[in-house]
Amino acid sequence: MTTTPCTALITGASAGIGAAFAHHLAANGYQLLLVARRADRLRELATQLTARHDVRCEVFAADLTDSAAPAAIVDYADRQGLPVDVLINNAGLSGKTAFADTPWNALAGEIQLMVTAPTELAHLVIPGMKNRHWGRIVNLSSVAAFAPPGAGLLYTGIKSYVLDTSQALDMELKHHGIHVTALCPGFTRTEFHDVMGTRDKADHLPRILWQQPDAVVAEGWDAVMKGKPVCVPGIVNKISAVAMKPLPVRLGYLLGKTFNPFKNS
Ligand SMILES: NC(=O)c1ccc[n+]([C@@H]2O[C@H](COP(=O)([O-])OP(=O)(O)OC[C@H]3O[C@@H](n4cnc5c(N)ncnc54)[C@H](OP(=O)(O)O)[C@@H]3O)[C@@H](O)[C@H]2O)c1
Repeated sequence: MTTTPCTALITGASAGIGAAFAHHLAANGYQLLLVARRADRLRELATQLTARHDVRCEVFAADLTDSAAPAAIVDYADRQGLPVDVLINNAGLSGKTAFADTPWNALAGEIQLMVTAPTELAHLVIPGMKNRHWGRIVNLSSVAAFAPPGAGLLYTGIKSYVLDTSQALDMELKHHGIHVTALCPGFTRTEFHDVMGTRDKADHLPRILWQQPDAVVAEGWDAVMKGKPVCVPGIVNKISAVAMKPLPVRLGYLLGKTFNPFKNS
């Protein structure tokens, strides 16, 4: 175990699951470095957490679609004397329009935000974790990684990358005292569907499918501390993940094409 207090770097901390992680980790004595684009929200959250839990809480406003952001964040952490012991790669969104109708810049931004930036952040902080013989990395995948791909969306492919890579890194780094967990939530009550423009459709889904972000984080963090490489929170999501994975490829494709509730056409 590293010396306390540990530092947790959380991306996408201005809302939803990232903000829930900030609350959970501050309550457990972690000092925090919060990252997202909306600096006002981050500062408000940092002030609240410091007052409530007496922990150091720094903010760094960054757009993770900018390829310079990961190095700038870790450089800031170093200059602030905040060695990253816990990395929560959480920032993310889903594209709104079909692949062929989406400008390349937007698609490249999705890949940078949810593939390249989290991978680079992990690569930047792992050497320090190795030196300290302790580290935890949480990568936000999704139960979508177990599901058939959705028509025209990069999202399931991106979340499958996150799921697979997290396990590969966990295998590589375990013996250095570093655990990597892919956290795979299902429908979670955050701003995700507002950003995606699918709030109306999402609100028509049965209540039983939904979880609150603090429940996702509590189960996810418990899995992280137990060194589990994959966590699917919630019983409904667990059943869905188990049921969806063994589908024959052709059947999975057909289901994904037919039953995606968020497809636009
Ligand atoms: N909600 C769900 O149903 C669900 C299910 C499975 C997986 N997930 C995953 O969980 C993660 C968190 O999503 P959420 O549900 O908490 O959504 P959310 O409430 O919309 O929060 C997304 C966070 O990502 C940040 N973000 C988005 N684009 C960014 C950018 N370019 N640069 C920096 N930060 C950026 C946002 O901050 P700013 O806008 O301030 O930058 C915000 O803090 C995502 O990876 C998502 O794919 C969500």
